[in-house]
Amino acid sequence: MIRYKQETHEVQVSAGLSVLIAASLAGLEEMGFGDCGGNLVCATCHVRVNSGTFAPMKPDEQLMLDTLPRTHPNSRLGCQLRVSDDCDVEWMGAR
Ligand code: FES
Repeated sequence: MIRYKQETHEVQVSAGLSVLIAASLAGLEEMGFGDCGGNLVCATCHVRVNSGTFAPMKPDEQLMLDTLPRTHPNSRLGCQLRVSDDCDVEWMGAR
């Protein structure tokens, strides 16, 4: 599930695919989600993880998050998150 503002998008993707792919299927790519295609240079895929299990953050993801003016304790970059089970993330919007 991907939330953005007042909208909720329920998207099914295979395990191992990224939240970036799920966002694209939800039509959020057209609104600016994931401008760099997952190359860790845009942070337009900034999400807050409400639930779900994801691998720990790697240093390059943290470096990109550190460039943002505002983050949350559960902030992650959707392009780095591989879906393994049901999850709920909230897109923070393109910067
Ligand atoms: S898509 Fe650009 S950093 Fe995630």
